[in-house]
Amino acid sequence: MTASNAGRKRILSGVQSSGKLHLGNYFGAIKQHIELQDQGECFYFIADYHALTTIHDRDVLRQNVLDAALDYLALGLDPERVAFFRQSDVPEVTELAWILSTVTGMGLLERAHSYKDKIEQGITPSVGLFTYPILMAADILIYRSDLVPVGQDQVQHIEMTRDMAGYFNQTYGEIFPLPTYQLGKTPKVPGTDGRKMSKSYGNTIDIFAEGKVLRKQVMGIVTDSTPVEAPKDPAKCNVFQLYSLFASPEEQADLAAKYRAGGLGYGTVKNMLLEKIDACFGPARERRKELAAHPERVEKALRQGAERARAEAIQTMNLVREAVGLGSYRR
Ligand code: ADP
Ligand code: TRP
Repeated sequence: MTASNAGRKRILSGVQSSGKLHLGNYFGAIKQHIELQDQGECFYFIADYHALTTIHDRDVLRQNVLDAALDYLALGLDPERVAFFRQSDVPEVTELAWILSTVTGMGLLERAHSYKDKIEQGITPSVGLFTYPILMAADILIYRSDLVPVGQDQVQHIEMTRDMAGYFNQTYGEIFPLPTYQLGKTPKVPGTDGRKMSKSYGNTIDIFAEGKVLRKQVMGIVTDSTPVEAPKDPAKCNVFQLYSLFASPEEQADLAAKYRAGGLGYGTVKNMLLEKIDACFGPARERRKELAAHPERVEKALRQGAERARAEAIQTMNLVREAVGLGSYRR
């Protein structure tokens, strides 16, 4: 980073490259990431090591990383202002994860909601899935981050990161600042079935879907069977919640009044939502198409980001190695 950045708040976040990014990712995380890019020294990465806990096909993994990078760049991330990189281009983070694992109790990981949820879904856990929060803590701590903008489902992981930083600091001295998290305005966006929107639930509306594919996702939003003419409660309607993400307060109030008055069919509101999505993401879709024709530019941006990130990670690892009694990178 340049000297002029010294002393600025360090902001870090990551997104897993485990599938197409959706409205939950956008309104819960990506939108804040982009808004924050001038508010501090930002490190944003695509978490491909983490994606390995669910993806075991190299072509799919690579394609997902490229897709996530295209998405971020098209949505307005500026790789000149932000260190934007691929997690696996900074392999030192796995070393820090190992070191953190030696000061972290099993009990802390056993309490992780996301792990328990996955087990409930019937997923046979790998060791990697269990230790996922340690790698995430290493991601945050290796850049000595102050602030981590995320959606609601990641909050416990940040709390666990603070615990791990505390265990390390108590054992070896104060190396890591304790990071705080920041939620966006909509930390929990509902999916088409009313549960949290998530790739793993198959209930997403994808940011860059368009035409028939987008229409199918929107028309698939689950609604109740209240007849068209009957009054409806907007607070209980998924379509209304999703429409509200895009609408001004006046538009929301206007639509809420129409719900309560009756005579409004869910199909009409779904079409209004479709128009909002097209208007919001139309320009980004065009930018994405242009960028997708030049994957080498994306690769260049990611490498440039990785260089900045890696220099920072190596500095931290020198401190860590010295503190714990391992050999130094600086010979
Ligand atoms: P997914 O659940 O689809 O696998 P990720 O876990 O990769 O999504 O999440 C990437 C980022 O997007 C995280 O910061 C997460 O908190 C946020 N996020 C994911 N789903 C939602 C949602 N439905 N509402 C708000 N934020 C979300
Ligand atoms: N676990 C996050 C997710 O599912 C991705 C992630 C990995 C992350 N490392 C991180 C987010 C560090 C914030 C900070 O989206």
